[in-house]
Amino acid sequence: MSKKVLLSGIQPSGLPHIGNYFGMMKQLLADQDQYDVYVLIVDYHALKSIKTGREMSENIKAVVLDYLALGLDPNKVTFFKQSDISEHTELCWIFDNITTMPYLMRAHAFKDAEAKNKEIDVGTFNYPILMAADILLYSADIIPVGADQKQHVEIARDTAEKFNRIYGKTFKLPEALIVKDVAVVPGTDGRKMSKSYGNTIPLFAEYDEIKKAVMSIVTDSGEGIPKNVYAIHNLLRPASELLPIYESKAGKYKELKELLIGDLEKFIAPLREKRKEYEKDIPKALAILKAGGEKAKAVASAKMDEVREKVGVKVY
Ligand code: TYM
Repeated sequence: MSKKVLLSGIQPSGLPHIGNYFGMMKQLLADQDQYDVYVLIVDYHALKSIKTGREMSENIKAVVLDYLALGLDPNKVTFFKQSDISEHTELCWIFDNITTMPYLMRAHAFKDAEAKNKEIDVGTFNYPILMAADILLYSADIIPVGADQKQHVEIARDTAEKFNRIYGKTFKLPEALIVKDVAVVPGTDGRKMSKSYGNTIPLFAEYDEIKKAVMSIVTDSGEGIPKNVYAIHNLLRPASELLPIYESKAGKYKELKELLIGDLEKFIAPLREKRKEYEKDIPKALAILKAGGEKAKAVASAKMDEVREKVGVKVY
């Protein structure tokens, strides 16, 4: 029996943080053997926020190093970048013609931007449809994502259903896989960890950065167990181990933070060192990405051929 397909995308939007890791990357890497895994760097999605070519190129290289350092095995995983496969934007256009404006106006990201009176570009508005193309081109079954992406996976599913209804069965319906306990990894201020809130702990942080981030975790005076410190600590150690420690040290924030710094350093230091090794040969890392693109292209172009036939543009 063929393996189920698991697919995830990550924007090359700068340093990953432990929220990305525990929300999605960890799950993805643990599943390398069990599933047929696709990991794509969604550089065209990131165009909505990255407006200089240099920053884009640097960020793409950085994500490649991040994933290799985390143990992504390119022999098992198809690791590639979206812009290498023109079928993503082509399929997006076809989907645009079966998607209504009011439907996309219900997307959270669009509603948030609108509520903040931001000027919204077409790319941001259409973002979920490009994501649907990413997913559906590879007949993905499972999409491991943080809770913030759940709606996007539902949009991909709706789009597949709609296309199938109009043109006949073509696409598999994907499902989001959300790791329950870490659906939202909290940041140092208790809100969702996110670069845009400036509340992150970088995944490859140096010791001093870890220390600074942990020391900035917000605690309320009078709290017994500082909940923001505990929530982050709980990513590294189970409650059965952690609760007795936190109960015995109730109110001793500084000590608890020092313990967390030590645990984070133990977790991050080997990853940091491995990443430095990969940094020594960037062309080799990029060759891995390019080869992954060739593998992905074969799958995407076969699917796209089927789509062109269904919509009737394939006349020879
Ligand atoms: P991106 O790049 O913003 O985030 C990558 C993944 O990390 C998860 N994540 C979190 N999970 C838990 N707690 C947090 N604080 C946290 N912050 C981030 C995100 O949920 C995501 O899974 N739209 C996607 C990229 C994308 C994609 C795809 C994903 C494009 N095409 C196809 C899956 C399949 C995004 O912006 O992820």
